[in-house]
Amino acid sequence: MGVVVDVSNVVLETGRLILRYWHENDLADLFAYASVPGVGEMAGWPHHRTEEDSREILKSFMEKKDVFAIVHKEDKKVIGSLGVHESWADDDPEYSGMCVKEIGYVLARDYWGQGLVPEAARAVIKYCFDELQLDALTCGHFVNNYRSQRVIEKLGFEYVKTIQLKSQALGQVFDTKCYILFRERMTKEA
Ligand SMILES: CC(C)(COP(=O)(O)OP(=O)(O)OC[C@H]1O[C@@H](n2cnc3c(N)ncnc32)[C@H](O)[C@@H]1OP(=O)(O)O)[C@@H](O)C(=O)NCCC(=O)NCCS
Repeated sequence: MGVVVDVSNVVLETGRLILRYWHENDLADLFAYASVPGVGEMAGWPHHRTEEDSREILKSFMEKKDVFAIVHKEDKKVIGSLGVHESWADDDPEYSGMCVKEIGYVLARDYWGQGLVPEAARAVIKYCFDELQLDALTCGHFVNNYRSQRVIEKLGFEYVKTIQLKSQALGQVFDTKCYILFRERMTKEA
């Protein structure tokens, strides 16, 4: 509730990455990673079959303005996305009155295992807490997605509950583990 996320004028930089708004000429890079089977499926969407699928998604990223493109500085290309969306916590009375958003991410398969998403997520978490003044962030993964689970653990999120999440796009229901990270706790520990 409350905060509207708009990353269209935001640029975040880390050692290896730049996080920025999407451009129309990112289409080829988006299609290159989103068309690989098994990447999007772990995040609840089917891999893109044609460039038209990617064009639709790129359009929605640009309209909604709540997803960063993850740019690899050395390779000079977009290798993934990291979004700041509405959270399940908005419907949970436990967190009423708090401003909470959910982060979600996908990385090109060739770049897995180098700690790039944790690096990107740390920058986005800092932005969400320092600039947007969110009270907390949530994150989730399908129970069998141990890679995402490791990312969430490394970022310091706490496990809250397991819910059944329906992916309309995949036509399947997934047991999904949900986690939360509070700004206050981060500030105290810093
Ligand atoms: C989940 C994902 C974002 C992780 O990003 P990443 O930058 O590779 O994250 P890390 O480098 O921290 O690796 C996370 C775990 O992946 C595993 N991993 C490491 N190298 C790997 C490789 N070469 N190939 C596959 N998995 C590997 C390890 O278990 C690692 O945990 P560890 O650091 O404790 O060893 C990425 O795998 C991905 O995009 N997956 C598909 C989409 C997805 O699952 N999105 C999240 C939805 S909740």
